[in-house]
Amino acid sequence: MSNRYAVILAAGQGTRMKSKLYKVLHPVCGKAMVQHVVDQISKLNIQKTVTVIGHGAEKVKLELGNKTDYALQDKQLGTAHAVIQTEEILRDKEGVTIIVCGDTPLIRAETMEALFSHHEKLAAKATILTAKIEDPTGYGRIIRNENGLVEKIVEHKDATDAERKINEINTGTYCFDNQALFSALKQVSNDNVQGEYYLPDVIEIIKKQGEVVTAYQTDSFEETLGVNDRVALAEAERIMRNRINQNHMRNGVTIIDPANTYIESDVQIGQDTVVFPGSMVKGKTVIGSDCQIGPNSEIDGCEIGDETVIRQSVAHKSSIGSHVNIGPFAHIRPDSNISDEVKIGNFVELKKTVFGKGSKASHLSYIGDAEVGSNVNLGCGSITVNYDGKNKFLTKIEDDVFVGCNSNLVAPVTVGKGSYIAAGSTITKDVPGEALSIARARQVNKENYVQKLNVKK
Ligand code: UD1
Ligand code: MG
Repeated sequence: MSNRYAVILAAGQGTRMKSKLYKVLHPVCGKAMVQHVVDQISKLNIQKTVTVIGHGAEKVKLELGNKTDYALQDKQLGTAHAVIQTEEILRDKEGVTIIVCGDTPLIRAETMEALFSHHEKLAAKATILTAKIEDPTGYGRIIRNENGLVEKIVEHKDATDAERKINEINTGTYCFDNQALFSALKQVSNDNVQGEYYLPDVIEIIKKQGEVVTAYQTDSFEETLGVNDRVALAEAERIMRNRINQNHMRNGVTIIDPANTYIESDVQIGQDTVVFPGSMVKGKTVIGSDCQIGPNSEIDGCEIGDETVIRQSVAHKSSIGSHVNIGPFAHIRPDSNISDEVKIGNFVELKKTVFGKGSKASHLSYIGDAEVGSNVNLGCGSITVNYDGKNKFLTKIEDDVFVGCNSNLVAPVTVGKGSYIAAGSTITKDVPGEALSIARARQVNKENYVQKLNVKK
């Protein structure tokens, strides 16, 4: 096998997206398009990957980090001009260079590997990845001669009516003999409708040199979708979503309605977990086995144990144990750490809170900036009063505490182990362990008061 190199084209503005965000940074299933491409390329055996950046260069670099080298294209004069920017890094290399557009997020490593093999088997100088598609509008067309051999690529805008009828398209992915590529690039002109230096023109140039130019036609045309506008973006999202969901289902996850379940690319889910409709599972969430997620839940960046149930709820950047029951209608805000066997019931909000094993907040509570021990019962309407308008303070509730309904715990405050708080209390001072604390006005009953009122009338 020869040395392998990769170039990713990601310098364009993406005018057709009509967006402040640079095209290749638009996410598909939660991950930037260009990151999808880099992730797939990193599965291949590649010596060096160079990403061509221009518009939003710093942001693209921030997204991709040091997984690739970078070449800067100051002015976007076309895809051939973009590849020329990698000259300094790649010009002298011997081997095969794969070029992929940063706006084809669905391309898979397997397909690129097949392209490499085809290229090497035929000892070609250039091999185009092509696909036959129903509506080829906008794509470059593959022009073959009477013997069926590839002659050149014609861009949609430059094509004649007859050429536009051709439905075999250039997917924007190619393999080149590296040396042949860089010498051909020198001869590309910008004499076309768009006044750009087109990379596809090197095909005709290499062919005219009498070298072997081939095409590898993939039948998984979905992979080759080039995202140029938001309509294509939604299409890519739909295909990627399907692919992700099928992967989970093949690994033993039940998804009740895959068309209505939104799982981002980096999520992991254990066997026999069931995901109900309307659920979004995002970021680097890891869900254990035998869980029930949804319906209608949003989980972002959480780590969740086994046999946990989360119904109609929102959970962000938190850790949630096993045998936990959350919802319906709960909100777990970032930096919460929920232990095993906990119950967080309806209309309960947690924020930056450690919640110990077997503890419960079953109804209508706000628990923020708190450390709750194990086996604690927070009665309906328990509130941590954590904010004085300027600063946030900690509420500490030790093991085995029972907080009666509708209590305010004014932080900073500690409620000692095993103590009881009477319903309706506003606790402003620490409560010793094993105590009963009552902090509310004493009830006064005025007998026959109503009769007196009536007499006055
Ligand atoms: C390109 C191909 C077309 C192919 C299609 C597949 C050319 C001229 N046309 O068209 O044959 O069918 O992809 O999706 O190559 N870019 C740069 N610098 C530039 C211009 C573009 O880095 O100066 C990058 C863009 O960021 C993008 C990629 O190259 O990621 C492709 O550019 P785009 O404008 O999307 O080309 P298409 O019109 O889609
Ligand atoms: Mg494109």
